[in-house]
Amino acid sequence: MSNISIIGAGYVGLVTAVCFAELSHRVNLIEMNPEKVNCLKQGIIPLSEKDLPELWQRNWEAGRLSVTSDYAQGLADSEFIFITVWTPATGNGKPDLKWVRSATKSIAEAANRPMVIVLKSTVPVGTADIVAGILARSGHNGHRFPVVSNPEFLREGMAIFDFMHPDRVVVGASDQNAADAVAALYEPLDAPIIKCDNRTAEMSKYASNAFLATRISFINEIALLCDEYDVDVVQVSRIMGMDPRFGSSYLNAGLGWGGSCLPKDVKGLIHMGKSRGVPMPLIRAAQQTNESQPYVVMQKLHQLLGSLEGMTIGILGLSFKPNSDDMREARSLLVIDLLKKHGCQVKAYDPLAMRTTAEVFPNVTYCADAYEVAAGSDALILVTEWDEFKELDMKKIASLMNKPIIIDGRNLYDPEEMAQAGFIYDGMGHRATKAKQLEGIALDGTQAM
Ligand code: UGA
Repeated sequence: MSNISIIGAGYVGLVTAVCFAELSHRVNLIEMNPEKVNCLKQGIIPLSEKDLPELWQRNWEAGRLSVTSDYAQGLADSEFIFITVWTPATGNGKPDLKWVRSATKSIAEAANRPMVIVLKSTVPVGTADIVAGILARSGHNGHRFPVVSNPEFLREGMAIFDFMHPDRVVVGASDQNAADAVAALYEPLDAPIIKCDNRTAEMSKYASNAFLATRISFINEIALLCDEYDVDVVQVSRIMGMDPRFGSSYLNAGLGWGGSCLPKDVKGLIHMGKSRGVPMPLIRAAQQTNESQPYVVMQKLHQLLGSLEGMTIGILGLSFKPNSDDMREARSLLVIDLLKKHGCQVKAYDPLAMRTTAEVFPNVTYCADAYEVAAGSDALILVTEWDEFKELDMKKIASLMNKPIIIDGRNLYDPEEMAQAGFIYDGMGHRATKAKQLEGIALDGTQAM
């Protein structure tokens, strides 16, 4: 078993730490924020991620995890140092590498033995070379520090599962021994391990997230057309998804993509293109489509309500996706902002994200549940498709409202069931459709007789 240090106790760092500990490695987490260190020492996980608290506790009690702000202590005995610090987008979309650079310098100052440096943060192509350059210039007592690029493909809310069941593990390096050593850490996971150079690994991460984003924007564009031609995009997605060349995921039309990754990485890729004179029109268009989705919802609201001035609009779901309390680049923030600009009163409910939203929008009425949101509202907007919203008594919701109007920003509901519940319903390319079956394919995906 190996000794591993991980720098940065964010989503990726914490998940990587507990998962490697679960695989029986000894993991030292290095985190500069003393508050976070204190929380972690007490077993309090400073973010919400499925199974993370349990795995932290189990491995902490087994003595396989430790956390410190002290580099010398955190690096002692380590064979691998994973850099998992954040790389937020700056104003022009360029990822900020300040924390990657400072972590690298701290490693160079504190390390007293040969170690493999593993870059897991999402970083622009060429960053591994920058890191290797900083280490080479530092002298570091004659020890070697090969740099391996090992991007993560973890979804928030599924991150532990994704780590333990990867579709692929990407190991980019010019040093074959270092690549083999990092690959060996992942061998128990029984996934294909792709060895490549650092730049390929770095690019593959950006290309993957940009492709997901583009797929979503693609189906959102099709949804706009579906609205015009009275076609249900949910059926179109299902039909498309049956083609093994496409696959069915990331084809759910709706309010668009948010979160800490897709928006940042799309910006980062566009910036990479710009700095080399590659215009990237497709990715830019995907971004533009995404930015316009909240306006699509506003347009639908206008069509049903006329002037929005003085209306009370209820928001169901605030976080950037279900099963997360993360509000980074959440679509709800844009929707609330637009509603406020149109003179609306806003009520909202989210199972996890209300406290964070209140920091940005203190003048929203935060409610105990969806029924309280509905009471007296002139319309509802479903922004985040939490499971609990599927279970609501929609007749009751409609009866509590001033006007029983709902814009389903995630196509969570069946338009016909909503009409039966008394709603005036509009989705994103998803309305009460005239035909229940299309070209012999039934709604449940089976072939119709
Ligand atoms: C994303 C990628 O899915 C991960 O593979 C990647 O590792 C991660 O970014 C990262 O770079 O760290 P995540 O940000 O957790 O993961 O979010 P996703 O589950 O991919 O969802 C992103 C956004 O797209 C959400 O706002 C979601 O509501 C939206 N979405 C997703 C759609 O609008 N339609 C879909 O069909 C799927």
